[in-house]
Amino acid sequence: MVYDERREIILLICIQIYLIYHMMCRYRNMTANDYDDIKLNQVDEFKDKIIKLYTWVLNIRKQGKNLAFLSLYDGTAEIQAIAKRNELEDNFDLIEEIYRGASLEIIGKINEDIRAPNGYELKIITLKIIHPSAETYDSEVNHESSVDVKLSKRHIVLRGPKSSSVLRLASHVLKYLRDFFYERGLEEVFPPLITEAQAEGGSEVFELKYFDNTAYLTQSSQLYLEAAIYSLRDVFCILPSYRAEKSRTKRHLTEYRHVEAEFSFANFEYLKDFIEDMIIYIADKVNENDKDILRLWNRELKVPNKPFKRISYSAAIDLLKSEFNIEVPFGEDISDAPERQLVEYFDEPIILEHFPTFMKPFYHKINDDNDKITNSADFIFPICGELVGSGERETDLNSMMERMKKMDPPLNYDDYYWYMDLRKYGSVPHSGFGLGLERLIQWLLGLDNVRDVTLFPRTVNRLSP
Ligand code: 4AD
Repeated sequence: MVYDERREIILLICIQIYLIYHMMCRYRNMTANDYDDIKLNQVDEFKDKIIKLYTWVLNIRKQGKNLAFLSLYDGTAEIQAIAKRNELEDNFDLIEEIYRGASLEIIGKINEDIRAPNGYELKIITLKIIHPSAETYDSEVNHESSVDVKLSKRHIVLRGPKSSSVLRLASHVLKYLRDFFYERGLEEVFPPLITEAQAEGGSEVFELKYFDNTAYLTQSSQLYLEAAIYSLRDVFCILPSYRAEKSRTKRHLTEYRHVEAEFSFANFEYLKDFIEDMIIYIADKVNENDKDILRLWNRELKVPNKPFKRISYSAAIDLLKSEFNIEVPFGEDISDAPERQLVEYFDEPIILEHFPTFMKPFYHKINDDNDKITNSADFIFPICGELVGSGERETDLNSMMERMKKMDPPLNYDDYYWYMDLRKYGSVPHSGFGLGLERLIQWLLGLDNVRDVTLFPRTVNRLSP
């Protein structure tokens, strides 16, 4: 009996010890699965809570043997973190092995801290290195590195909140564009990027060997969109375009994302009105939803008013001469610097329209009242220059063939047999445009160089990474 009671008491004590031990261990041994696995853009919801985080180290400052300050970035947001030897469970020594770029699994408590940039500080409780980073990270590339080094190490430069905010904005803007197009009844299509003929004509085209033939990388999907309207009425595509231009300006890439649309039964006025609405819609959405990103770049985005200022090509040339003494020979493109002068002069985006017929590709519609000019319009914006190229399309087959012959080099009718069929069989008044996505982001954020808004820019001198 006594023996049994003792056994029972011992058993009870054991159970209690086990329970206490288990409770102590629970906190200690709480595996990653026991905590909410959060992303840093959710910290607001987890104030004063213990959370689990998968993240990278943006910066680490080790202070003596017992303290370290870390700046963490998980691809969604940044947070300041603190690791103290006496508060961190037995793995503080791991801090010694952590350098910029390391990926970590952290369990920690989110505390409010008004001094921290986002109002929170993470107190690290345990940490695990998922993958270490080499100590040489800083010497690879840093703020003082040359532009060329920064471009060669773009895969590293991209890490961190500021660079990623540009890519995030581009991702959001693509959504806004698609939303706008669907609201207006357009359908997305996917024209080929490898083509038999050169959409824009001219020599700025990348050739490639296509089995036993020569093919080209597309300069624009416009001609295919013109075919697609007969199937879907109004269409758009967002695809890369390629330009073998030797331009070394801050706005030219050899590969860029081209947002193009084409509308049936649509004249020149409808087209310009649509583009204005689209730009205002995007700018409004960015102001509404992407305030944090604009703030990061100190950008106050001014939404242009409708209608945008319109000026004809010939009036623009006259104005450049009279106001700035800049001579642009009639028929030549208005280059970077004078274009900038025009926008500064009007202090708002402008629509430069009615380019001379001989200046524009064969597909631009000749104006009904003046056959020397086309129904074409470029939208010129501050910072990025020409943002949109647009126009009503020629539907008169004879006029088109005449101009194809006059192009330099002349275009081969056989390559365009299908495009001419579009005029033969039930053509309609139609219009369309192309917008460079990178230039749009440049303008939205006020960034001077198109390279800075491109994941991996392709320019005359750059093919890597
Ligand atoms: O003015 P572009 O050459 O027009 C066309 O390609 C028409 N076929 C489009 C159409 O009507 N579907 O090019 C349109 C836009 C320009 O306004 C500019 O924003 C962008 O494409 N763009 C470039 N962006 C970056 N780098 C380059 N080299 C670019 N060339 C044009």
